[in-house]
Amino acid sequence: MAARRGASASAALAVAVVAALLGASAAAGEASAPPLVAPGLSFDCYKQSCPNVEAIVRDFLKGAISQDVGLAAGLLRLHFHDCFVQGCDASILLDSTPAMPSERQAPPNWTLRPAAFKAINDIRHRLDRECRGGAVVSCADVLALAARDSVVERGGRSYMVPLGRRDSANPAPLGQVNADLPGPDSNVDTMLRVLGRVSGGALDATDLVALSGGHTIGVGHCTSFEKRLFPGTDATMDAGFAAQLRKTCPATGIVDRTAALDFVTPVDFDNKYYVNLVNRKGLLTSDQVLFTDGRTRPVVARFAKSQRAFSNQFAASMLKMGQLKVLTGSQGQVRRNCFAPNPASSTGLLLSVAAEAESLVF
Ligand code: HEM
Repeated sequence: MAARRGASASAALAVAVVAALLGASAAAGEASAPPLVAPGLSFDCYKQSCPNVEAIVRDFLKGAISQDVGLAAGLLRLHFHDCFVQGCDASILLDSTPAMPSERQAPPNWTLRPAAFKAINDIRHRLDRECRGGAVVSCADVLALAARDSVVERGGRSYMVPLGRRDSANPAPLGQVNADLPGPDSNVDTMLRVLGRVSGGALDATDLVALSGGHTIGVGHCTSFEKRLFPGTDATMDAGFAAQLRKTCPATGIVDRTAALDFVTPVDFDNKYYVNLVNRKGLLTSDQVLFTDGRTRPVVARFAKSQRAFSNQFAASMLKMGQLKVLTGSQGQVRRNCFAPNPASSTGLLLSVAAEAESLVF
């Protein structure tokens, strides 16, 4: 009883902290409606089964990101590619089966970092060893925590991650993956349409600008921005910046070279990405259009001026993105192996055998 009272007190405290966090964002002049904690998620769902879950994920990533700084970008992008397609259900991790191809076969997922998948698996093994009852923390929750801790590890502000997501048993069809992840040549119209659709209207233009700030770390392959360099320089790109990029990507069709998404501070989670956009030095078309389009330009300008305004809004927008179409309660499953659905349970098997036997009775 005391434990339950303690749990609900800490949940209430957590909600108050989130409210304070969003209050800070409102005070900084950000317009988005406050996101709620999705029904079925909470801040203490692993209190009994895995009380150290957050520390275990954080400690693992501290070590892993110090060995490979690009892992932080890989993990942040992985969570985004999970959440936008069919919700934050770890469907991005599922391997192909004879029945369904993996979401990773769709072009937008071709350059996700193998190291990020490995890190999720390593974290899960560590959790399985240390939590009561083995595989209790969902793969979708591991993805959400790993994205947050990657941001923090590279100097971004922390935010609270509600937990209790469940994992899906199926990947999304490839057509859906292609439709729900905007490409590098997208304009603001396309991106707002996709954001609105995948979030049921919860993500707006301010969220688009803030979440695109994820591009303050990580890289893009030449093929993602070559159209801006060849046959001539994109009119919205600084000429000197284009000349620099042509040294890395001297022709079209180069698949194995990359440039930093934020060339000023490529591994720091800061607001220089927006300063670059103001200076016409965004890498992707989908980045630079945020400054050329009147609907998003004022938000870019504000974040370029204020690191604080950016980091508060990024936290609030990640809180929303991280709860898109979550499976909770008895929906979905907690996958024992993050890369494959659980085998049909013995109870399920017995029931289907019984149903089949019944159908044979005339
Ligand atoms: C909404 C519009 C978005 C578009 C069009 C977009 C597009 C892209 C593209 C084309 C790349 C480079 C892929 C490559 O060439 O290998 C990339 C990388 C990246 N994106 Fe996005 N993205 C978007 C939103 C986001 C969001 C919401 C986040 C996270 C909050 C994010 C985080 C990242 C990160 C961290 C990388 C670097 C990955 C690495 O270095 O491995 N992106 N994105």
